[in-house]
Amino acid sequence: MIEIAIDGPAGAGKSTISKITAGNLKLLYIDTGAMFRAVTFYFISNNIDYENEESVNKYIDDICIELKHINGIQHIYLNGNDVTKEIRTEEISKAVSVVAKNQKIREMLLDIQRKIAKENNVVMDGRDIGTCVLPNAGLKIFLVASVEERARRRYKQLVRRGKTADYDEILVNLKKRDEQDMTREIAPLKKANDAIIIDSTNMTLEKVVKIIVTLANERF
Ligand code: DC
Repeated sequence: MIEIAIDGPAGAGKSTISKITAGNLKLLYIDTGAMFRAVTFYFISNNIDYENEESVNKYIDDICIELKHINGIQHIYLNGNDVTKEIRTEEISKAVSVVAKNQKIREMLLDIQRKIAKENNVVMDGRDIGTCVLPNAGLKIFLVASVEERARRRYKQLVRRGKTADYDEILVNLKKRDEQDMTREIAPLKKANDAIIIDSTNMTLEKVVKIIVTLANERF
């Protein structure tokens, strides 16, 4: 099976770049961040204290996460309901790093992620794909960009979607999320030894995709 792992901090362009790359190479795009977001959505919408490990662990068995691809677009289901749109809020973005620290949740999602990669040729994006989920991936990319550029991109994205956005607040949240994702005990955000770093700060999306597609065509 073909496995391409794309990791990096929030806002580096992973999902857009992974999606286009997967389309070009006719592979399945898997956004693992959406799974953590859907779990976080469960806790928030059920008023469960997600900062309390005991209460999180108590509810894990009540959570069922599924992915389906409809016309090439990933849809994420929480207990049978499509929550693809609902998980893209700043409230979820702020809370998700806390939920993603939980070992039992990571184990549950790891099983789903590995099962998908076993059955499909994938481009999978996340934080720990190259280091933990798919350690034998044939191509690993660590996609980075300066935190200011990432905040600018997220700001523009929210405005485009007609949402209110505050650049300074986004910048503070991104820095906090980077810190939480990089310093957590289990599967932190880290470059795999055999990953290739791409800094997209001053690169167009198309250029980054071209680099990855070229690397993939060389390797697979
Ligand atoms: O890529 P994203 O912003 O949608 O990811 C949301 C959060 O999920 C991110 O802050 C960290 C967590 N995450 C993770 O811990 N491991 C992954 N493989 C993917 C995401």
